[in-house]
Amino acid sequence: MKVLVTGGTGYIGSHVVVELIKQNHECVVLDNLSNSNESVLDSVKKITGIRPTFYKADMLDKAALGKVFEQNKFDAVIHMAGFKAVGESVEKPLLYYRNNLDSTLNLALCMKKYGCKNLVFSSSATVYGKPESSPVNESAKLSCANPYGWTKFMNERILSDICNADKSMNVALLRYFNPIGAHESGLIGENPNDIPNNLAPYLIKIIMGELPKINVFGNDYDTPDGTGVRDYIHVVDLAKGHIAALNKLATNCGLVIYNLGTGKGYSVLEVIDAFSHAWGKQIPYSFAPRRAGDVDLYFADPSKANRELGFKCEYNLDDMARDSVNFALTLKKARQKNQ
Ligand code: WQD
Repeated sequence: MKVLVTGGTGYIGSHVVVELIKQNHECVVLDNLSNSNESVLDSVKKITGIRPTFYKADMLDKAALGKVFEQNKFDAVIHMAGFKAVGESVEKPLLYYRNNLDSTLNLALCMKKYGCKNLVFSSSATVYGKPESSPVNESAKLSCANPYGWTKFMNERILSDICNADKSMNVALLRYFNPIGAHESGLIGENPNDIPNNLAPYLIKIIMGELPKINVFGNDYDTPDGTGVRDYIHVVDLAKGHIAALNKLATNCGLVIYNLGTGKGYSVLEVIDAFSHAWGKQIPYSFAPRRAGDVDLYFADPSKANRELGFKCEYNLDDMARDSVNFALTLKKARQKNQ
């Protein structure tokens, strides 16, 4: 298939592009580079031998988006472009609603105009808000705790209604749990420009020597070691889940919704231990007060994706830690070489 990947130079997007190329799909990448760098595509070429066609464009620019569709006949779109910092969304709700909703609406209008019927949408477990229990399955109550989560919820609603009205449309809503890890080459991974909000990229910065230690937000949660428990999924497993979803759309399935998680929860301290073990040094940390909006524990029920997509995660926490540390050390070495 010829596939447009919006947000394709991002952390998850670049891993999805690699897996698409490995499966012999033709990839076109669109990104405004607001939170990524075009050089990621050079790394994609080193990994796959192919540098995908790239359009530097903002999805809020209807004319630019239309031009991409005029110049390419897409069989499907994987829509990953969007702002994703929970804390920032609380401070700047208008920016998040404008960006994350208008980009999806502009895309849906283009797909309708140019007859593209298949869409995989990057949703998030954040639509479950504070789940009443775990494991969480796709029929769990939806409620969001921040504007970022609401943008995912609203995009799901928009795309569901489009499918209800147009039975020729096929849409897969993929609810990611906590993606971490990196491609085994160490050439692509998660390295935000600013100080990370999320656990794994923060640990990566410590390993790179850019940050001294990490604050563990709360050790009085109702969990085995008192620290927050989450369902971490290797980003390569997550990327493969997108290919499985794309194959499902080819069966003209209409609207489908899947959790992408391992079904296993790990605590903050377990993640720090796994990264320390992979690094060969203890990652320094100290306990700090709880972070507003955090929940004690949640993890996925992954059985629906397994049953309907034949999708099953292959990597465990040690694999995620090993690949993250490899990415951090590879990036550090590359930076030292360029100095
Ligand atoms: C994980 C655990 C923190 C940082 C968020 C978004 C979600 C999704 C994934 C996009 C928690 C603890 C973290 C730190 C810490 N993103 N922590 N010190 O909050 O589960 O999910 O990212 O879809 O939408 O909500 O991920 O990595 O921020 O936190 O102790 O410096 O690590 O308290 O228990 P989270 P996270």
